[in-house]
Amino acid sequence: MHPLEILEFPDPRLRTVASPVKTINGEIVKFTERLLFTMYGASGIGLAASQVNFHQRIIAIDISETKDDPLILINPKIIERAGEIESNEGCLSIPGFYEPVKRFSEISIEAINPNGDKFFLEATELLAICIQHEIDHLDGKLFVDYVSKTKRQLIRKKLKKTNSNRTGVN
Ligand code: NI
Repeated sequence: MHPLEILEFPDPRLRTVASPVKTINGEIVKFTERLLFTMYGASGIGLAASQVNFHQRIIAIDISETKDDPLILINPKIIERAGEIESNEGCLSIPGFYEPVKRFSEISIEAINPNGDKFFLEATELLAICIQHEIDHLDGKLFVDYVSKTKRQLIRKKLKKTNSNRTGVN
């Protein structure tokens, strides 16, 4: 299996609002496997389909230290939210940057798994943060949207420079 290419900020494709998955067919199931594979390969704890330029509402998560507890959320929806938690967030699409972001500390979600079954999940702390971060991706939002404009522009500038050095183009 080959990993999928992860788009990096400020790529405008990261701003696409993803559509709900209509039918969970073999192609979608295969995609969820590649999404997880790509996430593990990049040492991430979460990856949204939007980040690999596939604009349907699918998220891969694994917050376990042993990296053996994958969670796939299809068409995830937050149905209850409470509390507040602030943590330094990072993102595979914004490599090397970590900024404090405020989120709900407890959420309840409904989603569909790759077997096509609807399920409910209550999440707190890191899992709650991760789910909110990934759902943001499906809505075309990035964690840098929560920081000051000055800081966001600084990150954009630095990443552009890194990317141009990587490809040898200025
Ligand atoms: Ni992210």
